[in-house]
Amino acid sequence: MATSQFVSRWRGEDLGQPIPEERHAVSVCLPRWRDNVGYEEGDQAVIGAMRCGYPRFFIHPDTARLFAECERQVARSGECAMVFPSERVARRCAEFVSRETSAAVRVASCFDDRVYAVVMPKSVHETAKMFWQHAGEIVPSRLAVALLDGVRASSVSLSEASHSKQILRERVAALQGCLADDVYLFPSGMAAIFMAYRLFQRLRPDARSVQFGFPYVDNLKVQQQLSHIRPAENAVVFFPRGLEADVAEVGRLACSERLLGLFVELPGNPLLGSPDVSALSELSLRHDFPMLIDDTLAACVNLNTLPVADVVATSLTKYFSGGGNVLAGSLVLNRERPYYERLKSLLAEEYEDIFYGEDAIVLERNSRDVAERIPQINRNAARLCEFLAERPGVADVFYPARTDRANYERHLRPGGGFGGLFSVVLRDAVAKTERFYDALQIAKGPNLGTNFTLCCPFTLLAHYRELDFVESCGISRYLVRVSVGLEDSDWQIERFAEALRA
Ligand SMILES: Cc1ncc(COP(=O)(O)O)c(C=O)c1O
Repeated sequence: MATSQFVSRWRGEDLGQPIPEERHAVSVCLPRWRDNVGYEEGDQAVIGAMRCGYPRFFIHPDTARLFAECERQVARSGECAMVFPSERVARRCAEFVSRETSAAVRVASCFDDRVYAVVMPKSVHETAKMFWQHAGEIVPSRLAVALLDGVRASSVSLSEASHSKQILRERVAALQGCLADDVYLFPSGMAAIFMAYRLFQRLRPDARSVQFGFPYVDNLKVQQQLSHIRPAENAVVFFPRGLEADVAEVGRLACSERLLGLFVELPGNPLLGSPDVSALSELSLRHDFPMLIDDTLAACVNLNTLPVADVVATSLTKYFSGGGNVLAGSLVLNRERPYYERLKSLLAEEYEDIFYGEDAIVLERNSRDVAERIPQINRNAARLCEFLAERPGVADVFYPARTDRANYERHLRPGGGFGGLFSVVLRDAVAKTERFYDALQIAKGPNLGTNFTLCCPFTLLAHYRELDFVESCGISRYLVRVSVGLEDSDWQIERFAEALRA
């Protein structure tokens, strides 16, 4: 196993410590309910203790050092710099910031064109942060270290990195049932989705997209904030419940306007629902719009979704990696679908390899055993969900085996299961959740798909500034999302039993 299966980061004194315990970890311990609220409220007692975070949301300390160094090189008084892995990415960010704020923004080369800084007034830094988070085209901490400590200090050779990338493309292709030539790698799952969104936009610049089902927070934000249509809400037609009646509604909509494309997760985050993607796929063929499925939560081996999509996007950060120490994403194209040629030729213009070589090497190592890890995770999660669903203190367990099961099963691979992610809401949630959460002795922080069990108050962390809206979509602010790992199943069940007794 590439990384430890067991991470004990749940005690109060673990606040702010990396999960797992390594320099390039992509999660951070927020052990108590109130720590999560504190993080969202900008409480210095929490923020000051954080040694890292999820890198799209919290600039990694090594990446922050790189920002500071570039700032020293290219910024003037009153300005700050945010650094990106290519000139084109930096220009996209600069364009976004100047469109949203009208501020004077410029792009400057740093470290001999290895990275590019967006230089802007300090007052608009938060807007650039939005781009960093939603677009996911980030400078990872390993690249920052290599640049700051001198490229020679980095042990990675170019040929080793490109060899790892080729293996990764082949591995993803084997899992998706496509050719390695149709697999594209990215520095995060969001960067893959943002690429697909830009391709669709180039085909139909002024059309609206459809988001079918309640998605992972940034999947919706890309379609709103990174569209040029304003107000942002007008850029996307959102069907938060993703019901059968909504499928018919998409059909009616497609009769009355040309759609940019349809985005759907199978299953969805955080409610693990499975919309009828086969019916949506038929609509996309009949009405001629491209369809993207985000299959991240299908954990790489459980579902076969490519046959019913033009494009499948996956956050490789999650199950594919398992290690919780690298961000990555993939896009794969379906050769059998009508958009294939157009998307392929647009990708030839748009795609740049900005996935850092050392990250590719780490991801290649982590993902060697993905096909062996997932069946164990499937079994553990199914058993834990069954246990929880029978507890009187539990109101709801959201898991693909229990929600829209027929839609999910239609795309099951032979031997596939229901994945490792579920969400739970307690009875009398207002009074009980905080005590339950604080007593839970499993690793607590953002991220999912790790080899070790990891949970977080997902609604709070992802939607703190829109809790009423999210609750109107059927997602409780007291929802606890659990990503089940490879530990002994009895041990996992005992952790939850203990927390429920508290
Ligand atoms: C379903 C889904 N899609 C996409 C993403 C984005 O992936 P990344 O964080 O690697 O950019 C996530 C992240 O949690 C996710 O849950």
